Amino acid sequence: MKTNEELLEAAKEVSKRAYCPYSKFAVGACALYESGNIYSGCNIENSSYGLSLCAERNAISNAVAGGETSKLVKIAIYSPNSSKCFPCGACRQWIQEFAEGYNTEIILENEEKGVCSYYINDILPYSFNLK
Ligand code: THU
Repeated sequence: MKTNEELLEAAKEVSKRAYCPYSKFAVGACALYESGNIYSGCNIENSSYGLSLCAERNAISNAVAGGETSKLVKIAIYSPNSSKCFPCGACRQWIQEFAEGYNTEIILENEEKGVCSYYINDILPYSFNLK
């Protein structure tokens, strides 16, 4: 199993591949599943701004396309442009979907405090769920 530091390192690495010519705000995410598999993603923007894809949802999409079916245990998020890059509301809902009832850990890096961790149930209380 990867450590929080290793997941953040992977998020940092993939943030270098972000396609963000419009906002110039790069983001990388690395998701760890119960299986031990990890999946990374960066943000991908578009001339039609609203079509832009966040790094977290790109990482989760890679997991789904890769055949991952276990719970999303942790996701590390990193932006060189922010001291703490919290997931947006849409990404919180995506994380919650694939947590499958587990309280997924969100790992962020802060220049002063170092590696910080939060839980999806705390940052997305009363979430929408059809199940
Ligand atoms: N972005 C992410 O990749 N993840 C988030 O959770 C918030 C925002 C991206 C979208 C866009 O490409 C850029 O950051 C600025 O909003």
